[in-house]
Amino acid sequence: MSLNDLVHESLKKINYPGFSRDIVSFGLVKGVSVANGSAGIDLELTSHNPKVAAELKQACEAAAQSIEGVNRAMVQVKMPPAGQATTGNAPAQARAVPGIAKIVAVASGKGGVGKSTCSVNLACALAQGGLSVGLMDCDIYGPSVPLMMGIHEKPVVSPAQKMVPLSSHGVKLMSMGFLMPGDEPVIWRGPMIMRTVQQFVMDVDWGELDVLLVDLPPGTGDAQLSLCQTVPLDGGVVVTTPQEASLGVVRKGIGMFEKVNVPILGIVENMSYFTAPNGDRVEIFGHGGGAREAQNQGTAFLGEIPIFVEIREGGDSGVPVVMSNPKNEPATAFTNLANSLRDVLF
Ligand SMILES: Nc1ncnc2c1ncn2[C@@H]1O[C@H](COP(=O)(O)OP(=O)(O)O)[C@@H](O)[C@H]1O
Ligand SMILES: [Mg+2]
Repeated sequence: MSLNDLVHESLKKINYPGFSRDIVSFGLVKGVSVANGSAGIDLELTSHNPKVAAELKQACEAAAQSIEGVNRAMVQVKMPPAGQATTGNAPAQARAVPGIAKIVAVASGKGGVGKSTCSVNLACALAQGGLSVGLMDCDIYGPSVPLMMGIHEKPVVSPAQKMVPLSSHGVKLMSMGFLMPGDEPVIWRGPMIMRTVQQFVMDVDWGELDVLLVDLPPGTGDAQLSLCQTVPLDGGVVVTTPQEASLGVVRKGIGMFEKVNVPILGIVENMSYFTAPNGDRVEIFGHGGGAREAQNQGTAFLGEIPIFVEIREGGDSGVPVVMSNPKNEPATAFTNLANSLRDVLF
């Protein structure tokens, strides 16, 4: 590895203040060059907080100087002019959420691919594995997570004016559905969504969490993009079906995360196959679309989930299959998925 690369690598260990994400993955490191034992590092911040700049400057200098062969480090920090509205990178908008180690968004190109089913079972499987897990249902078009988790009451507000998440199957839960009157579809305007989501993360008494999963609304439009900017995400997962994968929809999901510099953790293929009564594996939509697309996009393939009546029934009854029958085939598929996610996340 060249000295340049070594210095660049060392910067990946520096987290943005208040985040569990590093400054390289946030896209803030614009250049690194080493000559005659002297390292030059260019940082471009989207925040104009001088404390953040000073902290990062010092951390970068220390990191570079810890590399053998580097004696001096010069860090140039570029900041947006004060008062100018910042766009783009997450750190500008999103503030850290104390107590939450990792925030992961679950996205899909369109509705009905099983995004919520995967989020719910994934949350339960992670909790079964001993992590403290929260689930935030941001799907304003179809907030189905409370039903899938068997929750029928609404959250209360604590004396400290924070919403107390409800708890089910060992997972803490908040849903946009709690804020909607009855079953009426609500016309949500952009700013309203943003404010509500921000409130969700900041004004909910999540306590200490290892992982907070965010079930995004389906699609990859402006509303979804805004959500990804509002919440300080550590990574994104794209759920797809074999036929959707073949249509290039996954690429859109990945593109959305890339636009806001959220690292892509991987792809999940749902409804991959079903097992016929005689035990045959039937791949209605062909095999391997998700894995192929993951390879094409240079991201991890986190796992495939078969079609099982029990998965749908678990969703309808409020007891996810991972909880009701943890040893059977559909549950095992989700447990494997949870393990792959853990591997890429921690
Ligand atoms: N692997 C699966 N096997 C059987 N039914 C599934 C599976 N995944 C999802 N479903 C069912 O498909 C429907 C849509 O799933 P849902 O999770 O609500 O999708 P999304 O959140 O992407 O709109 C639900 O009725 C759900 O129970
Ligand atoms: Mg859904």
